[in-house]
Formats: sequence, structure tokens, C-alpha cells
Amino acid sequence: MCGITARVGVGDSSESLVATLENLEYRGYDSAGIAVKNGTGLKIQKREGKVAQLRDAVSENRIEGELGIGHTRWSTHGAPSDANAHPHVDCTGRVAIVHNGIIENHDALRRDLEADGHEFRSDTDTEVVPHLVEDALDAGADPEAAFRAAIAQLEGSYALAMIHEDVDAVFATRTGSPLVLGIGADANYLASDVPAFLEYTNDVVYLEDGDVAVLTADDFRVTDLDGVDVTRGVETVDWAAEDAGKGEYDHFMLKEIHEQPKSLRQTIQGRLDDDGGVRLEEFPQGTFDAVNRVHFVACGTSYHAGLYAESLFGDWNVDAQTFLASEYATHPPAIRDGTLVVGITQSGETADTLGALEVAEDAGARTLALTNVVGSSAARLCDDALFIRAGPEIGVAATKTFSSQVAALVLLGERIARDVTGSPTPDAEARLDALMDLPEHVDTVLANSQAAEVADRYAHEDSHFFIGRGSAFAVALEAALKFKEITYEHAEGFAAGELKHGPLALVTETTPVFAVCNGNNEAKLESNVREVQTRDGPVVGICPRTSDALADTADETLTVPATHPDLVAILANVQLQLVAYHAANDLDRPIDKPRNLAKSVTVE
Ligand code: F6R
Repeated sequence: MCGITARVGVGDSSESLVATLENLEYRGYDSAGIAVKNGTGLKIQKREGKVAQLRDAVSENRIEGELGIGHTRWSTHGAPSDANAHPHVDCTGRVAIVHNGIIENHDALRRDLEADGHEFRSDTDTEVVPHLVEDALDAGADPEAAFRAAIAQLEGSYALAMIHEDVDAVFATRTGSPLVLGIGADANYLASDVPAFLEYTNDVVYLEDGDVAVLTADDFRVTDLDGVDVTRGVETVDWAAEDAGKGEYDHFMLKEIHEQPKSLRQTIQGRLDDDGGVRLEEFPQGTFDAVNRVHFVACGTSYHAGLYAESLFGDWNVDAQTFLASEYATHPPAIRDGTLVVGITQSGETADTLGALEVAEDAGARTLALTNVVGSSAARLCDDALFIRAGPEIGVAATKTFSSQVAALVLLGERIARDVTGSPTPDAEARLDALMDLPEHVDTVLANSQAAEVADRYAHEDSHFFIGRGSAFAVALEAALKFKEITYEHAEGFAAGELKHGPLALVTETTPVFAVCNGNNEAKLESNVREVQTRDGPVVGICPRTSDALADTADETLTVPATHPDLVAILANVQLQLVAYHAANDLDRPIDKPRNLAKSVTVE
């Protein structure tokens, strides 16, 4: 949560700091601020509200400087307010700091600092840092040494950037929160995530936990906490600046829904063999010979991708189980020899998922990160990484990355199954052929979807249920999550067979039920649909065009192209993403930035 940025280079930094914050707003949007340094000291502008409010403030009351830091906030300590917005300064105003993460020992530090006479202006945990720096400066340290002295006293997770009024450099460090440098021609940048500065540079340096970076206009230096130089190479990312913009769409979410054919192609590209197998460069044949079970650990949408894969892996005779990462981290199951723990995480920075992976590592399990972000904490923490290659996802609601996660898990599952069982999965050739055609099928869904009309009809109802079996159950859960998070209306997903064990009591004529059919067990799903209709609940079937059973029973249908049953639910999910999107639009919700949520959840 929270996004931090910095720029140091030729010309004024304030405009590009605000622009980089706009690109990072998906990480937090309850307040924002920048601090710049010029010949007359540090100048700060900060505002409660969205980055747009900060932009207005900066244009009304211009501040300029060749060097600066910025922050967009998702509150953890202290309510959203101008005072709690970052940057925070020391008592003298010579030092300004932005922070992402949580400083766990801030209470004790603040008590000591206040006892020594420091005056605090906010309720944040962050504000202890500039005051700690101030103490060290007063004791004679130079700004870099003072920054190090402050960090040495912190417990928790943090990415920090600091400027001092006398130094033409940005000081930064990370422990448990992401931070990446952007190396440009006229300026150097620093941010919580690469999309922040993609319009200025594609050359990046991923920092590791414990790194301290000093960034100047034409250079950077990275050391460890003791000041010993460490080498961090410059990498070029292949994301384009347009990938991080909204283009012709009203919302990032709609853009990203429509990007799915492209992102799926990227996920699959070069990973299917001509002779009907998978070719994962990172994982040649035999890689998983020693594996006898798989644990998926993930949160939210990524958890649903895990459930989807679990239902397939079971059919392929691979023992797989999906766990909520937050539970796994605190109440882990038995982790026996031969367990492969796969952390599914779009951002690669979700604290709960990282916590679960750490538990797995401590228990001696082999770990694998399935992530969208090269250089992310999960990718670096795990023994192996498989990248889903979906491109940057900015909308807070995950869409294209779900499809790419499932597609990547189908590929990974084939590799694992062949190593574990000694033979291809049942029906491998047909499934992998269908995977090749999936982007085209998603195009067909997007071109013909009636989801907007369905959404108009049901957006205002009391409650929205989503049901399915197997992979379609995973999609029912995912569709309900998407619906509730962006419409703020009640939505729940159920295993179709479970409705009659309790939730059916809630079904009335104002409870639309979206029944997802993946082509398997159609007769059973049809019975569940009739149970709903008997209680006057309207039913929308989401099913392959060829599925007569549901088409004849449901009150209306959203169809998808017929394909392999293992992949149908990915297409159904696209329809339901559109239903959620259009319902939220009808209700005039802030679709890309739903209240109380942030894209990257780096706190537990
Ligand atoms: C929902 C959503 C969240 C994330 C969850 C995990 O639309 O986006 O539920 O899926 O916070 O995030 P990652 O995948 O980055 O670990």
C-alpha cells in the first residue's frame, strides 16, 4: 500500500513527480504529496484526497526544484488528512521523508523522541523517521550517515526515500517493501513500481532488502546497511509506456478486460511445443521429479486462480491444495518432503503471500513464485519463478492477470504432471490446442457480449449470487469478489451443490443467481438452477454456446465459445468481469479505485 517516487535530474521535478504519482495511484489514493529541493530549502505540497487534488494544489501554488520525492497514501496509521499525508519532516524542516510499509516499533520510538523534545505534526508511524535523522544530524552525522542511523532503529517493513536541503541526492532503502530505480538520460528516478516512470525510462535497477541507494542526477550507488558497496545491475523492462495508460477506455479495468487476448498470447507464447507438450524454459523435463504434492498460497483473485488450478490438477492425478496465504502464514498445514509451494501473486509484493512463502521456505519446502512482476519480492524470495507476462495491471480489480495466471498454471500443471506421474495429463493435446485458441475465443466474447444489458437489469438488486462446480466454482468466487469490490453491492459465490445446504434461504425474486457452467456436470447444475427458480430467483446462465441444458433452463444466458471444458470457465469469467464492470458503471462507482482498497497489499 502507498506508492513512493523520487526524481533527481535536469529541470524541474515537480511535474514529473505528480505524473509518476498518478501512475502509482492504484497503490493508494487517500492523500498525496511531494517535496522538492531548490536553493531556498525544501518546499512541500500535500493534500488529503486523490493525486488530482495534489495536482490542483501544485498548479495553484507552484513549487519547483530539480530534486524531489512524492507519495500517494493508503492509510494504515492515522486517518487520511493533510497532516498525515507524506512527505513528513523533522522539527527543522531540513529533512523530508516518504515511506511505504509499517514501522512496527513507532510507538516506542515516538515516546522517546517526544521525551527528548521533538514535536510531531501527524499521527503516522512514518514521522519518527525524519526525527531520528534529525537526532543523528544534531549528533554530527552527515545526511547519509544520519539516514543509516535512523534505519538501524526501525523494525517492520519499509521502503523509504529521503531528501535533505543541503544535498543534491535522494537517499533510499527497502526492507520488505518494493523499491526500484529508473535510470534515465536527463534524470534518475525511484519508485515503488516500474509503471510509475515508464514514460521516462525502461532501464531499471531492482533493489534488494537491506540495500541503501544514493541517487544523483547522473549516477547511483547501492550499498548494504553497513555501507559496503553491492552490485545491482541495470535491467531493461519490455513494458511500454502505453501499457500503463488508459488509452481510449474510460477505465483501466475495461482496458485490461479488453487486453486479455493480447495478455493471454503473451502468457502462452513460446511455451507450447509443436509435438503437443509444454516448453517452459525455466523448468525442463524432470524439474519436478521429486515433487509429490503442490500447495498453492495466494490471496483474493490469485487465490481463486489457485482454486481453479487445484480443480484441474486433481483431474490430472496431481495432489494439489489451495490455501489462503494469510492462514498459511499463521496456521500452516503439515509441509512434508516433496511439497512444492507455489505462491500465486500478480504483484509479487503481497505481504500475506510473502509470509506464507517464508513459512514454506523455513519448513524446507521448495517454493515457486507465479507472478507478473519480474524483480518482485516473491520472484526473488522463491527458489523459482514463472512469469505470467500479462503486462502492467493498473485497475485495482484484477482482471487480465487472473486469465493469465490460470493459463500459466495450465502450462505449469502439464510440466508437473508429466514429471510426477510420468505421462501427459489426460486429454493434454486437446487442452493445449484449446489453450492456443483461447485468445481468439476471448476476442469473440468481448465482441459479442450482452453483459452490459444483463448488468443494467440486475445492478440494483439486494444481493447477487454466483454458483458453479469445479473450475466454475473458482470462477463463481472470483466473479462475486469482482462484483462486490467495484459495485459495493452484496455478492457471494457458492459451490452450486452447497446452495441447498443453507444459502438458498436467502434467495428471493431480488437475488439474481449467475450460474457458471464449464460443460461438466451440466445435469447437476441444472438441478441447482431449478432449486433457485422454484424460490423465484432469476437465473443468468453463463455457458458454452453448445450447452443446451443450461440454455433451456436459465432465464437468460451469456454464452461463450465452445472449447475444452478445462478452459470454458476462463471465458465465463470474462463475461462476469464485464457484468461487474457495467453494474459498477451504472452505479457510478469509482471503478479503478474502489473505496478502502489498494492494488498492492504490502501489510499483513
Ligand atoms: C481483487 C484483487 C485482490 C488481489 C489480492 C492479491 O480484484 O485484485 O484480491 O488479487 O490482493 O494480490 P496479488 O495477486 O498481487 O498477490
